[in-house]
Order: sequence, then C-alpha cells, then structure tokens
Amino acid sequence: MNVVVVNDYDEMSKRAASIIASQVILNPKSVLGFATGDTPIGTYKELVKIYKEGYIDFSDVVTFNLDEYYSISKENPQSYNFYMKNYLFNHINVKDENIHMLNGMCDDIEKECTSYENLIKESGGINLQILGIGRNGHIGFNEPNANFEGVTHLVHLDKGTINANSRFFNSVEEVPTKAISMGIKTIMSVKKILLLASGIKKSEAVYHAVNGPITPKVPGSILQLHPDVTLILDKEAAYKI
Ligand code: GLP
Repeated sequence: MNVVVVNDYDEMSKRAASIIASQVILNPKSVLGFATGDTPIGTYKELVKIYKEGYIDFSDVVTFNLDEYYSISKENPQSYNFYMKNYLFNHINVKDENIHMLNGMCDDIEKECTSYENLIKESGGINLQILGIGRNGHIGFNEPNANFEGVTHLVHLDKGTINANSRFFNSVEEVPTKAISMGIKTIMSVKKILLLASGIKKSEAVYHAVNGPITPKVPGSILQLHPDVTLILDKEAAYKI
C-alpha cells in the first residue's frame, strides 16, 4: 500500500483530483469508479476546476459508482445518483450514456446486480476506483463480515453506518436500511485504487485497514492484498498508523 499523508482535507482533495485528472489525460477512454459520502466532495470540486481550466476531456470516459441506497429514487436528493450529478456529472462533459449507477428502485435486484457486473466487464474493467472508508472499516457498503468473494449485491446496513449517514437525512428513521453495493471482489478486480480518508473519526478504521490483520471484520483490510492501492490521508486520519 502506498500511503501519502497530507496536512488537511484541502490538500487531500487536490492530490486526489490531480491523480484522477492524470489518469484521464493518459487514457481519455478511462473507466473511472466513483464513491460518494462527504470525503470525495472536495476532490470532485477540484476535478471540476481542472476541467473548467480546459485540461481534461471526459467525453470518452466511462463511469461506475460503488453503491446506491435501496430503495430510493434517483431524483431523491439523498440518493447517490443525485449526489453524483450535483457534485460532478452536471459540471463536466461526461456523456449520459457512459454513466453507470445502480438503480435504487429496481424491481429485480438480482438482475440489476448481474447486469451491473456485466457492464463493468464489457467496459474492460475499472482503471481507477475512488474509495472512502466507513468508521467501521466498510468499503462501498460492504459492512464488517462481508464476504470477500462477493460481487454486486444487496446489503443490510449496520446500525453504526445508519447513524453515521443520518447526518444527510432529516432523521435517522429516514435512512434506508439497505443498499446495493459493488462487492469486495468487484472492488478488488479494479486496476488501481485511490482511498481517501480525512479526520480523526476515520483514524481507527484506517489503522485497522492498513496495519491490522486481513479480516472480513474490517472489510478495508482486504486492500492490503491489492497490487496497486494509494491511500491519501490527512494527518488526523493517519495519526494512528
Ligand atoms: C458511505 C458510503 C461509502 C463511503 C463511506 C464513508 O456510507 N457507502 O462509499 O466511502 O460511507 O463516507 P464519508 O466519506 O461520508 O465518511
């Protein structure tokens, strides 16, 4: 694991955006995997800035997102579909037909998951996947004790994750209790991973993912086995490692 420690959230965001931008410059047909949550918001803002300066072209880029709540419509402001449009897709020239997001209102979950996996394979595979990490060590929505062999599937969210994510909703009762997420195997199949973490609240999860044993109890620990992972951590997130 290549661990980069930076001063603060802004520096983390700038570093991450420049890595994504160089990926697109080097391969304009890149397949990018995006994450949601608070952590990558700054990265997406920086990426939009770089795009507006005219340095990158997303017209041939293909995107996949890690996860989506179930069941929630893509028009719902709490959905990850809405988030991605709001923070990134509405501001860059990525083509709608190249954007792939899980449908949180699908009727047939199994079909949705299988076709998502097939689309990733047909695209040639994800070149660069952005990841955050949950306070309990989850990646995507693969909660502790997730199957390391799992592909895209329906997950039941942990109480801790529901509480942590309730800050985006009016009340904890409004937070969906399920989600559809790429599995650990899907994530481990990407070519390059960029994991971002900021703040003291992530230090424990980062410590266990980087220094702890590789165990389904800490889904992020599996990343120790991936051949190309870069972690960009601010000082607070890194302080235990
Ligand atoms: C969420 C998402 C993850 C995200 C993580 C951390 O629940 N499913 O993809 O990386 O939890 O979120 P945040 O960046 O808001 O701390």
